[in-house]
Amino acid sequence: MSTEPRTELPEQHPMQTESVRTAAEAIYNWNYEPEIDQLRTLYANALDRQWIALRDLDWDTEIDQEAFARTFSLGGIPVTRTQFWQTLSPETQWEVARRSAALMLSTFLHGEQGALITASQLVAAVPHMDGKFYASTQTMDEARHVEAFAAYVRKLDEVYPITPALRKILDAILSTENWMMKAVGMNIVLEGLALYSFRDMRNQTEEPLLKKLLTYVARDEARHTGYGIKYLNHVVPTLSDEEKAEIEDFAFEAARQLIDQRTGTSMRTTMLEVWSQAGIDPGEAIGAIMKERELITEALREQGKSMGPVHGFVVPTLQSIGLDSDRIRGHFKEMWSANIGPETAERMAREDAALPKDLGEWVDAGYETL
Ligand SMILES: [Fe+2]
Ligand SMILES: [Fe+2]
Repeated sequence: MSTEPRTELPEQHPMQTESVRTAAEAIYNWNYEPEIDQLRTLYANALDRQWIALRDLDWDTEIDQEAFARTFSLGGIPVTRTQFWQTLSPETQWEVARRSAALMLSTFLHGEQGALITASQLVAAVPHMDGKFYASTQTMDEARHVEAFAAYVRKLDEVYPITPALRKILDAILSTENWMMKAVGMNIVLEGLALYSFRDMRNQTEEPLLKKLLTYVARDEARHTGYGIKYLNHVVPTLSDEEKAEIEDFAFEAARQLIDQRTGTSMRTTMLEVWSQAGIDPGEAIGAIMKERELITEALREQGKSMGPVHGFVVPTLQSIGLDSDRIRGHFKEMWSANIGPETAERMAREDAALPKDLGEWVDAGYETL
């Protein structure tokens, strides 16, 4: 099969660069024998499952605007099923869907760049050769993700700037010298959220190119999260309580930056700005949508994700690697209580979400042939 690109590479690139000072120890390891079999296997899988964005996805297809707008959702809220949505003209529906999706996908895109740089840091910073091998394949995966998301966003709209919350988390991940914090911040928190969100968006959208792109990317992300789980599972039991607490705090802070409305920089705040650019009064819109609370709650329940990606995925992942002290559970509960009320927070703290047994199968379910 030819590896020639179908189309030109995307033309527009960010006009400016910015920097953050990083310093991490690079570790040599003179033992070249496999030490952590699970990571060696993951590395072999990654080598086997490489794909090429410009060859394997059909970039020439036009986006089906109607299909795209019909299956757009706002962070899990099925806006398109509300009466409010029906009052909007098809043009406004497309504008809202296109811009909101471009914002979400730009956020994914910038996150992918952060992952690209972090994965390359991990090649140097992790102590085991198996960990270095694997991180090198992740670096390649992330380059492909940056390429693919940039190309898709360009089909919709322009690239939106990075949100302050994401920038803050990426800076923290890149500048810490502790490789376990890098791995927990990137592979567990950010990539856990990404994996959950990519799969979700893939399941919802009826736009074929986006569906395929998200499936391919999510398959890679399942490995990236798997790396964090397997590697940290190997090292966390060797840490002191104090070292564990530092890593827990780092993970919690990363999650908090993204979902705590009190920071004023959450994704929802930025999303509402985009709505007003599409000609909708965000206050009125939220008011109208919230009146349909029953429909929303029911729809969320149907989709089995009323708990959202942090409670439904990141927290159980942290639990699975032993980063779930009562202290940190208390922090999460306090945050949920302040954001969505003490009753729901109480219920969430009681109901632990179950992590899928096999992340790869979880991503593929129903999409094996794609
Ligand atoms: Fe990625
Ligand atoms: Fe990733």
